[in-house]
Amino acid sequence: MTDKTSPVDLITGHRRMRRNRKADWTRRMVQENRLTVDDLIWPIFIVPGSNILEPIAAMPGVNRMSVDKAVEAAREAADLGIPALATFPNIDMSLRDETGSNSLAANNLINETTRAIKAAVPDIGIITDVALDPFTSHGHDGILRDGEILNDETVAQIARAAVMQADAGADIIAPSDMMDGRIGAIRQALDAAGHQSVGIMAYATKFASAFYGPYREAIGTGGLLKGDKKTYYIDPANGTEALRDAALDVEEGADMLMVKPGLPYLDICWRMKQEFGLPVFAYQVSGEYAQIKAAAMNGWIDGERVMLETLLSFKRAGCDGILSYFAMDVARILAKRA
Ligand code: PBG
Repeated sequence: MTDKTSPVDLITGHRRMRRNRKADWTRRMVQENRLTVDDLIWPIFIVPGSNILEPIAAMPGVNRMSVDKAVEAAREAADLGIPALATFPNIDMSLRDETGSNSLAANNLINETTRAIKAAVPDIGIITDVALDPFTSHGHDGILRDGEILNDETVAQIARAAVMQADAGADIIAPSDMMDGRIGAIRQALDAAGHQSVGIMAYATKFASAFYGPYREAIGTGGLLKGDKKTYYIDPANGTEALRDAALDVEEGADMLMVKPGLPYLDICWRMKQEFGLPVFAYQVSGEYAQIKAAAMNGWIDGERVMLETLLSFKRAGCDGILSYFAMDVARILAKRA
């Protein structure tokens, strides 16, 4: 009898990780996380007018859409099984002012979009942001006075804007402004207006990130922004502070939590999921999208595989879903595989 024990077995004690990896079928059997279309929320950019699809230079493959085109896109997304859209307006410069007053116009571009999509495609969820940046002449998320972003005045205004967005048919309000106390104020305002079933997805941990650049081009705030957002967004260096901030949102009544940006903050996704048990979503932001696209267009990476790998990584990190500009691409790939 010859001894078949290899020298490696003496080291591993016959424990071999590669047995489960040996074939496609074993890999499928032991796969722990999967990406499905139900994980995808698609952020879209809206412009006034009709029949407009306007490319965004720093986000190849993403267009700003007029409302009619957004309705078509919503139908396509619903047909693919995407659960929800997140809508962001790029309004006329003439409508932007110091306080973002157009955020309180009942039929502003964001509310017009919600109404149109809800009328034509009622079974797709609509998530709207109440931050003031698309509406202000300075590109900040709040009211700016004497060089300061006013917290409480901004909260009062966005709570009113949230009610109008709910009146227009928004299903989930997602405030991205990071003012203190906004979740509680929005919850109270929604309930007082009879919108008990409208949910709140808190941008619970939004970091003062450099990854938002292309988004600012998309909604036209890039050239407007004076200074930075460090007095209200979280310092990228701070994880524990981010969790404290999220804890306040949970206490104030958030139904879902979001981490933004996504990939550089997977530790925060994981900690949030462990800590609160609420649904946690990651926002794979514009700069993350642009990175992948740019490298892929240069032939430096396989764009499709990198896209799928990043999205799967969010699932592994505990996320229940991902806001991603890749949502439609991924939904089509998943539909083909099924
Ligand atoms: C601001 C807002 C930002 C994004 C969405 N809403 C950040 C900013 O401009 O400071 C970023 C989204 C992205 O980069 O994809 N309320």
